[in-house]
Amino acid sequence: MSTNGAAIVYRPRRLRATPRMRRLVAENRLHAADLVLPLFVKEGLSEPAPITSMPGQVQHTLDTLRDAVEAAARAGLGGVMLFGIPAVRDAVGSQGDAPDGILQRGIAVARAAVAEVEAETGRPGPVVMADTCLDEFTDHGHCGVLVSTGGVVSTGSTTAGRGAVEVDNDATLERYASMAVAQARAGAEIVAPSGMMDGQVAVIRDALDDAGFTGVSILAYSAKYASPFYGPFREAVDSALQGDRRTYQMDAANLREGMREADLDLAEGADIVMVKPAGSYLDVLRGVADRSDVPVAAYQVSGEYAMIEAAAANGWIAREASILESVTSIKRAGADIILTYWALEIAKWIK
Ligand code: PBG
Repeated sequence: MSTNGAAIVYRPRRLRATPRMRRLVAENRLHAADLVLPLFVKEGLSEPAPITSMPGQVQHTLDTLRDAVEAAARAGLGGVMLFGIPAVRDAVGSQGDAPDGILQRGIAVARAAVAEVEAETGRPGPVVMADTCLDEFTDHGHCGVLVSTGGVVSTGSTTAGRGAVEVDNDATLERYASMAVAQARAGAEIVAPSGMMDGQVAVIRDALDDAGFTGVSILAYSAKYASPFYGPFREAVDSALQGDRRTYQMDAANLREGMREADLDLAEGADIVMVKPAGSYLDVLRGVADRSDVPVAAYQVSGEYAMIEAAAANGWIAREASILESVTSIKRAGADIILTYWALEIAKWIK
């Protein structure tokens, strides 16, 4: 055959012709062990509480957290990432490092659930990770402790009626160090500082080592951008935040700065580096993956979840295909590890 007399030598469509051919030549495929399920545990709940803006997700009681971790283990997920919502909040987030704080209790429950399923199945269960940040524990909702700037400095974190306030980087580091040790004591295998304070990885590494937890890893939220896509998460953790986090989280306009943040975390001893959100930052993810010599994670955040769920609920997009495309794209862009609220469901689909 010929077209204008010239033979068509290259026919890429051959490799797309059948499902079996497409499966054979897929360059990326998802595996349950790539996936990490974020889970919320709230103090004082007697029943799990649905998160309206994240259909299908709930705030767990300690009991239902246990069940969710067990399900994650049976599904072969790579990890669970725990967030705690305390009954009482204060200016410095005291419950964040209290030995009996809700997150510490959740960690212990999760470790026990993983151990049970591992004993039964003889297969490795999910790694238990914890969010190392103050925003769920402070009464002002910021990721760190505040200093008053006497109304002189006006920042993105200014809270109306309080005068100008700013998140105090170095005072916050002390809180993170203490939280990380409390989480390690409770059984966390990975601590995950998400507050974007300068120097947080180095300080946490030091504190863990001093306390004898040299074997606990740090997953650093390295390039974390200030994003409206965290909107539903604020509901998920009953966030008290007024204003925004633009003085510590990154500006969406900046790629080079994301590389610098990742380099600094690598130099400070991060065991895993992460980019967040994922879908709008695939270029950042590719950039970090190209320069990192440790595993790279990406967090498909609450708003990414909510957008697909909402459009699918309206019948505007195909739900399963959209979810799989969004997560496969994150893998293609360079993520070795993907945090996604769909982790359990995806694991079932790809079995
Ligand atoms: C901070 C933290 C946030 C998320 C994960 N860790 C909130 C924020 O930075 O405002 C967001 C996750 C999501 O939106 O799914 N502790």
